[in-house]
Amino acid sequence: MVLEFDPAFIQAPEHRPKPAVTEAGGIPLIDLSPLHLLEQHGGPLVAGLEVLVAQVEAACRDWGFFQVINHGVPPAVVERAWAASRGFFALSPEERRRVRRDEVNPLGYYEAENTKNVRDWKEVFDFVVHEPAVIPSPGDDADGGADRLIELRNQWPKFPHGFREALVEYAEATEELAFKLLELISLTLSLPPKRLHGFFKDQTSFIRLNHYPPCPSPHLALGVGRHKDAGALTILAQDDVGGLDVRRRSDGEWVRVNPIPNSFIINVGDIVQVWSNDKYESAEHRVSVNSQRERFSIPFFFNPAHYVMVKPLAELVDEKNPANYEEYNWGEFFKTRKNSNFKKLDAENIQIYHFKKTK
Ligand code: OGA
Ligand code: NI
Repeated sequence: MVLEFDPAFIQAPEHRPKPAVTEAGGIPLIDLSPLHLLEQHGGPLVAGLEVLVAQVEAACRDWGFFQVINHGVPPAVVERAWAASRGFFALSPEERRRVRRDEVNPLGYYEAENTKNVRDWKEVFDFVVHEPAVIPSPGDDADGGADRLIELRNQWPKFPHGFREALVEYAEATEELAFKLLELISLTLSLPPKRLHGFFKDQTSFIRLNHYPPCPSPHLALGVGRHKDAGALTILAQDDVGGLDVRRRSDGEWVRVNPIPNSFIINVGDIVQVWSNDKYESAEHRVSVNSQRERFSIPFFFNPAHYVMVKPLAELVDEKNPANYEEYNWGEFFKTRKNSNFKKLDAENIQIYHFKKTK
């Protein structure tokens, strides 16, 4: 008997991964060691920091994607997060499902997520970085859900032991890095380093443990379908298997992001694209899977408060450079995107270009 591959996972032919991978020679690798200068920075920029800011600016402009080393997150903290993730996904399906997400709580374990209406070959565990995280109610607008807010709380599994502690520690360390990257991005836009911090009071950031099991038909399916991250920034840890592909801006080719030990991958999200009024663009990416090895990754999605109205920063627009976007509410955007990942919808997934002004 030939086992049928579940059609829910099958990508349209034009979105399937090609058998040959293009190795990403050009993705910028940035050494963050000059970051400690940021703390001392009051007046004019110190030379080391100036070079770093120029590197971040070029990487955001040309790729929207870069890798960082010497980022200040202790290797032992990352190691404990990997161990927690491996331990969790090694539990029996029944154990994992004890913390399964549902229509009421979107946090916890989930194995049936869609990207652009095609099922992803993955399972995830989500938790918010600050509890409770306040977001608009996921209910339909029709039932009055549009006006209601809900408080999200994490569902922690009983096993593996030390899971929660390891991940809380990881969240604290990566959040610190997220704020430093935000300061760097502000500097690249010629703004004061802390210009964007206020948006992250009451932040809705969350961390996801991704597990991509070996896939019998890796040429038909994707671990995560092509997408752009909706938030401000993503800080991603990946293991040594490889599979993350980013769309190269110069020629539209999918290129593989090489795993580098003790590094993080940073990508610009849609919000930074809008804030920067298109100086930067969020990069399209996806995850290819393989038939041999399972893969793990841990993205930190750095998201502002639900009530933040996202629009090009006032300092960057004037009569000669008008705003390219209408403002939109982050919480509503996030909710609409989440709903479409949760179930298949007829309507197209919400995208920032829906807020683009017509000229
Ligand atoms: C994501 C994502 C990449 C990866 O979860 O949004 O793009 O390598 N993950 O797992
Ligand atoms: Ni992503």
